[in-house]
This record gives sequence, structure tokens and C-alpha cells, in this order.
Amino acid sequence: MIAIACDHAALKMKKIIVELLEEMGLEYRDFGTYSEESCDYPVFALKAARAVASGECERGILICGTGIGMSLAANKVPGIRCVVCSEPYSAQLSRLHNNSNMLAFGARVIGEGMARMITKVWLETPFEGGRHQRRVDMIAEIEKGSVLE
Ligand code: RB5
Repeated sequence: MIAIACDHAALKMKKIIVELLEEMGLEYRDFGTYSEESCDYPVFALKAARAVASGECERGILICGTGIGMSLAANKVPGIRCVVCSEPYSAQLSRLHNNSNMLAFGARVIGEGMARMITKVWLETPFEGGRHQRRVDMIAEIEKGSVLE
């Protein structure tokens, strides 16, 4: 199950990505927003991020004007590793090396074709594990207050 959420700036882009999820045969849960009426992106980022952190959804996709606000909000939820990507290389490496569990991007930054490409590669790329697991674990330690000494 993939969580997806957007704010008013990204409603049309969310529809494009929902179409992609359907093409890929992936189940999704849409956490809003559902209209172009101005709204506060942290509300919707939090709903999707909590679903990912709880395990209800395996991963999540957040779309706002830049991707930045929603990613900042999502990364406040323990267990969330949300990355803002404007090109597929970073999206792919964020899976391979960082085990990113949320992807954010900006509907005002990239076009539909690029958004589809980034999302597809991010969804299809596994985590490499190995030495990268230790580093991802260190990020979780920071959440618990460790200073990593
Ligand atoms: C909304 O105007 C805009 O601030 C929002 O979509 C997002 O880009 C925030 O980071």
C-alpha cells in the first residue's frame, strides 16, 4: 500500500501519479487534500507520514509546490526518511543507499514526465542493505537522542 498526499498546489500532479500507481498495479491510499482550496501542507504530510511510520503503508509520496514543506513535516515523524527529488538519479540512490520511505517533489518544479520517471524508479528500486543498513540505523539513533560518539 502506497500513501499519497498533496496540497492545493499539487492536486493535478497527484492525479498524474495516482494514474501511474494504477498502471503499475499498486494499491494506494489518498490522504488528501481533495480540492484546490488553499490548505496547510503539514496536515496532509503528517497523515501520510503517520501511515508509513505505523506500517499501514509501506511507502509514501508527497507533492506540494516545491516538495520541501511536505518533506520537512514528514521528516519530523520518527521512522520517516523523506527525500525531495527533482531527478531520477537521486530518487534511485535514496532507495539503494538511504532506504528512503517517502518521496516528495514539487508540482511547480518539475513536469509530469519527470515526475512519473522519478516516482517509477523510486518505487521499483530496492534498498541495497549491507554497509548502508548501519548508516540508516544511525539516523534512527539520532531520533532517539544519540550523539553518535
Ligand atoms: C503553497 O503555496 C506552497 O507553499 C506549498 O505548496 C509548498 O511548496 C511548501 O513547501
